[in-house]
Amino acid sequence: MKKILVLNGPNLNLLGTREPATYGHETLADVEQLCKDTGKSLGVEVDCRQSNHEGQLIDWIHEAGREIAAGRMIGVVMNPGAYTHTSIALHDAIKGASVPLIELHISNVHAREEFRHHSYISPAARGIIVGLGVKGYALAIEALVRVSS
Ligand code: DQA
Repeated sequence: MKKILVLNGPNLNLLGTREPATYGHETLADVEQLCKDTGKSLGVEVDCRQSNHEGQLIDWIHEAGREIAAGRMIGVVMNPGAYTHTSIALHDAIKGASVPLIELHISNVHAREEFRHHSYISPAARGIIVGLGVKGYALAIEALVRVSS
């Protein structure tokens, strides 16, 4: 069974209590369960990880690149959190490791503050899902399966 890696970046461990009007009431554990259930229904194994540290996220993207090259992984779904708007290093990691990646945001970043309108991740992403709440994670997993088959 092929795998998909779901990465959540900084502050997403606070889901459920963090600004619920913007991010909803579901916790990270709820989101990870949704991802695993979605994967199961599509015949893929979903591995979920979260880190508040940029370097850790980069290491996981490199690891995903090796798994993809070995034919064991389809790609990555990533909510990079605020690193979306700051991290050239994450952009370079995605490109450097040749990872098909769906960038995901729970909120509609384009309807929020101007500093959220620019993404360093988008030019390196295979596709983008924005503003559909946590259900976007299920859609991103399905999208990755569909575009890679
Ligand atoms: C976010 C949007 C980012 O601007 C923010 O920094 C986050 C979460 C989202 O899921 O809507 O941490 O990626």
